[in-house]
Amino acid sequence: MKFSTAIMLGAALVLSGCNASTEGGPGESPPQASGESMRSNDNFPQPWWRIYGNKSASFYRSLEGRQMADNMLTWQNADGGWPLMTTWREPFTGDESRAGPWGRGSALVKSSVNEIRFLARAYAATGDDAYKAAAEAGISFILDHQYENGGWPHAVNDRNEYDQNVGYNDDEMADIIDFLIDVRSDPEFSFLSPDKKARVESSFDSAIQFILDTQILVEGTRTAWAQQYDQTTLQPAAARAFEPAAISGGESAGVLLTLMSVRNPSDDVKAAIEAGVQWYRDAQIDGLRLERGDGDQTVTEDPTAPPLWARYYEIPTMKPIFAGRDGIIRYAMAEIEQERRGGYAWYNYNGSRVFAAYEDWSLQRKWDDQPPPNIDEASVEPYTLPELLVTRAGERVETPEDWEAIRRPEIMTLLETYQQGITPDVDVPMTFDIIEQNASSLDGAATRTQVRIEFPGHEGLSIRVLLMTPADATGPVPTLLHLGFSPNILTVDEPGIDEGMAWSGPLKSRVPDRDAYPLRGFDPMDFISEGYGLAMVYYGDIYPDFDHDNAHGVTQLFDLHGRDENPSEMGAIAAWSWGLSRVMDYLQTDPSVDGDRVAVSGVSRLGKTALWAGAQDERFALVVPLLSGEGGAALSRRNYGETVADLTNPSRYDYWYAPNYQDYAFRVDELPVDGHMLLSMIAPRPVLLLTGSEDTWSDPQGEWASLMEAQNVWELYGREVVPNAELPSMSQLQLFDVGYYMHEGGHTVLPGDTDVIVQFMDKHFKSSDH
Ligand code: GCU
Repeated sequence: MKFSTAIMLGAALVLSGCNASTEGGPGESPPQASGESMRSNDNFPQPWWRIYGNKSASFYRSLEGRQMADNMLTWQNADGGWPLMTTWREPFTGDESRAGPWGRGSALVKSSVNEIRFLARAYAATGDDAYKAAAEAGISFILDHQYENGGWPHAVNDRNEYDQNVGYNDDEMADIIDFLIDVRSDPEFSFLSPDKKARVESSFDSAIQFILDTQILVEGTRTAWAQQYDQTTLQPAAARAFEPAAISGGESAGVLLTLMSVRNPSDDVKAAIEAGVQWYRDAQIDGLRLERGDGDQTVTEDPTAPPLWARYYEIPTMKPIFAGRDGIIRYAMAEIEQERRGGYAWYNYNGSRVFAAYEDWSLQRKWDDQPPPNIDEASVEPYTLPELLVTRAGERVETPEDWEAIRRPEIMTLLETYQQGITPDVDVPMTFDIIEQNASSLDGAATRTQVRIEFPGHEGLSIRVLLMTPADATGPVPTLLHLGFSPNILTVDEPGIDEGMAWSGPLKSRVPDRDAYPLRGFDPMDFISEGYGLAMVYYGDIYPDFDHDNAHGVTQLFDLHGRDENPSEMGAIAAWSWGLSRVMDYLQTDPSVDGDRVAVSGVSRLGKTALWAGAQDERFALVVPLLSGEGGAALSRRNYGETVADLTNPSRYDYWYAPNYQDYAFRVDELPVDGHMLLSMIAPRPVLLLTGSEDTWSDPQGEWASLMEAQNVWELYGREVVPNAELPSMSQLQLFDVGYYMHEGGHTVLPGDTDVIVQFMDKHFKSSDH
């Protein structure tokens, strides 16, 4: 996007996004006029931060990013704050009339916090001290204006007397609290001094305390919140004539959402949420349809209307109340003058959003109450695994034929249904766009081929494959397909590597490849020098690794119904695995690759993926999951390290799996599958488990126990299995048709690991039976 376009686009959005009301007071901003001032509301016009806040470091270094930051610097006031306007659009040239509707003074509503965020990121990306100083001064501005009771004034300049009140309107408190949460946790604020950090902590605590202290008690019961409060008495306060001191069915929702976003909430916070949600249940108005239009609003009886909430409820009667400019309280909207009736948000649908958020919040509580993971071998309790070799009908499986015809399909269905989700069995049209062939690479040691796997009609979905084969190969070579965490350019930085856009999980957006998470894959030379090919794929090309409701990635290619609708919908691991199979489709066509001898590997979550890819696609002749752990090769029933509950925690990785998997989070003994069943799907093809002695989270011993169970299936085929069930000592490669190797170290790839993989490949790909 060019800078000029950005300016125009942003200007239009921001003008409708801030509280640019002609009267300048709280409550008449467009979001409230539409009755839906909650932060989660999609109709809320996007403040500029939503557009610019998710840019990557390179944006902040670009001309456009620098220009925006520099413009902001010119608008910062001596008190450290910014006026309520789009301070990034243009520099302040001394023309006060260019300031927004609230004038040149600093504002706390929809302003300042985002400038600080932007400048902190700009500093992290550029190291420019001017940005850091401005961000620091901005944080002081926020902290300095907090009342001792924890609230903030609605405005720091005295435009109206109620501006000194603490307001929940315009999401001011919520925006500031969100901001403090970011300052406490986001790395770009690490420049703050310990003193400043401590002030931020206590500011956050007292802001939350303010919310607790202002929850209105009616006859001893906690209810919800008023729109604003007297800053001294903490009593509900009136603002403009038509804004009475009452319980607000509008703003209270935003307050509850803020409370629900507090991590590890205290008992007081939990009690406030429960009471607030109960109040929304009690205040719900059924059977009334709200209609807006022609500068007016009406409600009519209609039993099919969605539930409504009034903006104001009288204390203590809880009757919905309304007022015109005369300030007289009335009990029906119809009784106030048309101008106010049509010009204010008297009703809203906020309660429904509160209920939806509450559902997620209560689910999350179960996870918060969990004890820390067990990493004490002595505390592992006995467990019983589901039988591998007994069919559902109770028959013992004694031949490979029965395994393949009966038991294997049974287990596969269980794994699909309860763990990974079902990958739709459809042929998706795709193209292999070979963008480079026979290029010399690795200083002449390798030949490079680059391909984009694309899907007609799905612009922007492109799986980039970087294939390297030994330059001296005289025919097709056995090849390892490795799924990696980083774009290929971050592993092989040589001219000509297909470079484009990656995905950032934390930013939940696309970023240039070079700004993506830098975790190098295997060193290609380790394989090339041993006569193997290496095909590398970046997992984000297949499916971005964050919860996005399948808005991105290959799942767009399927007719999915949504996780709420389908408990066995495929998760991210199934999506990545499907992508690996598409890469395999390509490799089968490439003359430099021996399609019968392609191994697949991945590390950690991608080790879990390599296993599922190998399970589903028998063209993978050998499977190497590294550090795959829970939900991979390890046994879930063995209570050590990560648990299914940890994996499927809604704030962690539930989207990796089918929704069903989460149902077993707290009753893993009833889970119809376990790690040994996943492993057994690879049989009789060779599998090598690579683990780490210090990787307690992934439970290396659990992977071993799983292999000992699973190898019964390899035995059925007469394959060579590990003869001794005792856990081998560290760095002792178990080199059979099943393999196991525990490196000395933790959850990371160590230099010797590739050598072990090569030994395993040598045994199976270079022996005489191939
Ligand atoms: C987390 C997750 C593990 C996973 C790992 C990884 O730690 O809990 O299950 O294997 O991420 O992918 O690195």
